[in-house]
Amino acid sequence: MMNGFVGSGLIACAMLAATAYGQNNGGTTPEAAPQTNSSQAESAPSVGLKDAFAGKFLIGTASDLRGYSDAELANIKANYNVITPENCMKPQPTQPSEDTFNWTTPDALVKWCQDNNIKVWGHTLCWHAQTPNWFFQPGADGQPVTRELAMARLKNHILTEVGRYKGRVIGWDVVNEAINDGGAGETENLRNSSWNRLIGPDFLTLAFKWAHEADPEAQLYYNDYNIDQGSVENKGKHASSMLLLKRLLKEGAPINGVGIQGHWHLDTSIPDVEKAIADYESLGLKVSISELDVTVTGGNSGAFPGGGGGGPVSAEAFQQQAQVYAKLFDIFNRHSKTISRVTFWGISDRRSWRSGQRPLVFDARLQPKPALQAILDVGLGKNVTK
Ligand code: G3I
Repeated sequence: MMNGFVGSGLIACAMLAATAYGQNNGGTTPEAAPQTNSSQAESAPSVGLKDAFAGKFLIGTASDLRGYSDAELANIKANYNVITPENCMKPQPTQPSEDTFNWTTPDALVKWCQDNNIKVWGHTLCWHAQTPNWFFQPGADGQPVTRELAMARLKNHILTEVGRYKGRVIGWDVVNEAINDGGAGETENLRNSSWNRLIGPDFLTLAFKWAHEADPEAQLYYNDYNIDQGSVENKGKHASSMLLLKRLLKEGAPINGVGIQGHWHLDTSIPDVEKAIADYESLGLKVSISELDVTVTGGNSGAFPGGGGGGPVSAEAFQQQAQVYAKLFDIFNRHSKTISRVTFWGISDRRSWRSGQRPLVFDARLQPKPALQAILDVGLGKNVTK
């Protein structure tokens, strides 16, 4: 059976066997990541993830869908009702040079999702990474980039992309990762990005306004990592995020919610996650867990980006991972009025950007791990672990 993204399942299997193991999978290149031992793999549950949380929040995955086997596409259809394009909607692939746009992969993704009754969440419009240098280089006249030119380029990018997918993409991570790591939380601690340097701190509010102008119905979110941690003590990146969000609201940014990325590990502070959700709710904002994964090796490697991993993983570690996932989903359940979406960052340990750290709920061979059943149990109201 042929599908729109891969020649055949046979080719995909052959690629799986032939490719090398790597740390950052990039989401599109098959990698021979280690799989769960057969004794650790669970039998396939009859209920899909999305069905276990129906009526509470959307359940998503991240993918560009290129090169996916029929089995992978079937897994997506069974478990998820929203997809975030992992890379193909970012500024680098969509506008590699000024006014030259490339929509091949995102168009195919949006069509496949529409055909299969799956929603699309756009990622991302304004970021310091995966953004081509031309955005910040002199224009045709050779003059240095002014605030006005940088604004015009960002506005054109946002109006073009959001406008293209108006009505077909339910919402956007408008600005991604604008807050720096390591601050005390006493200021917004904005990253010294080219956008911040050229336009100034109001680049965020402007980006939200342009996205709203292009699609007034789209949900618009600020997205970042580690903004949940430290929230119980109201310090660090969480405190900075609260200052930033309050300022955006004051400036009239049409912001609907916050994406807590959720690149977590076995020692992540679960109380911090719950407090952060409550804090954002207190600002009148929705929350999504936008890039969920829980690594079982590598520990807290500064939490981002993930290093380490790749070695054998014990059955006990996979049980611990299941417990962490269960505790997290118990929180999401209890805050389902605020949580709009929980999106896993990839479909399997083979496809994960942290494939060596075995962070997802399906193993490298797409077999369920203990975490999957633990999450389903929470969704279905069974054996909830507090
Ligand atoms: O597209 C090129 C391809 O042409 C080339 O042959 C290949 C060679 O390595 O690289 C491909 O680009 C890679 C791209 O993924 C697509 O596969 C990049 O090298 C690689 O760096 C890129 O990594 C992505 C990373 O963002 C970039 O920062 C990961 O897949 C993606 O999972 C990751 O996602 C981010 C979120 O957008 C934001 N939050 C953090 C999260 C994890 O880093």
